[in-house]
Amino acid sequence: MSLFISLHLIAAIIWVGGMFFAYVVLRPAAAALLPPPERLQLWSLCFDRFFLWVWGAIVTILATGYFMIFNNYGGFSDAPMFVNAMHGMALVMVLIFMHVFFAPYKRLKIAVQEGNWQAAAAKLAQIRILVAINTVIGLAIIVVVGIGKY
Ligand code: HEM
Repeated sequence: MSLFISLHLIAAIIWVGGMFFAYVVLRPAAAALLPPPERLQLWSLCFDRFFLWVWGAIVTILATGYFMIFNNYGGFSDAPMFVNAMHGMALVMVLIFMHVFFAPYKRLKIAVQEGNWQAAAAKLAQIRILVAINTVIGLAIIVVVGIGKY
């Protein structure tokens, strides 16, 4: 049981903390230092690596989350409100991530390969907004769990 909550928390920290770092720390530093071609290539390479970890985090969070719901509460109907809220909010995050992965990220990569910096910048701007939304939802889940449980 403690193994499942530990894996759940590690995966959530990697995903939410990674987005926080990208948005709050790396984005302004890259914007201040790098001209568009280098900056857009940097983001494309960062996403190549980070999104692999996000897929792993999603699988881990869902597997451990569903296991704990059935193990701790015997199913969704007896799970407390904060768990249902965590589940629902996390599913929204997963859908947003999948949209980012299969739409603007794929197009960002193609635009970067073609050296089309204007198109790449437009896709990066979309990703930035969606990552900001997911960061806020991720942090909100932690607040909901903190208030709901403690
Ligand atoms: C990014 C998304 C998520 C974050 C940030 C997150 C965060 C957390 C945190 C901080 C806890 C620790 C609560 C404690 O102190 O014990 C927790 C526990 C838990 N989470 Fe999540 N979670 C996420 C997604 C999910 C999903 C998708 C599910 C269901 C499929 C889920 C189910 C659970 C369950 C069942 C517990 C244990 C609750 C208990 O018995 O106390 N979580 N989660």
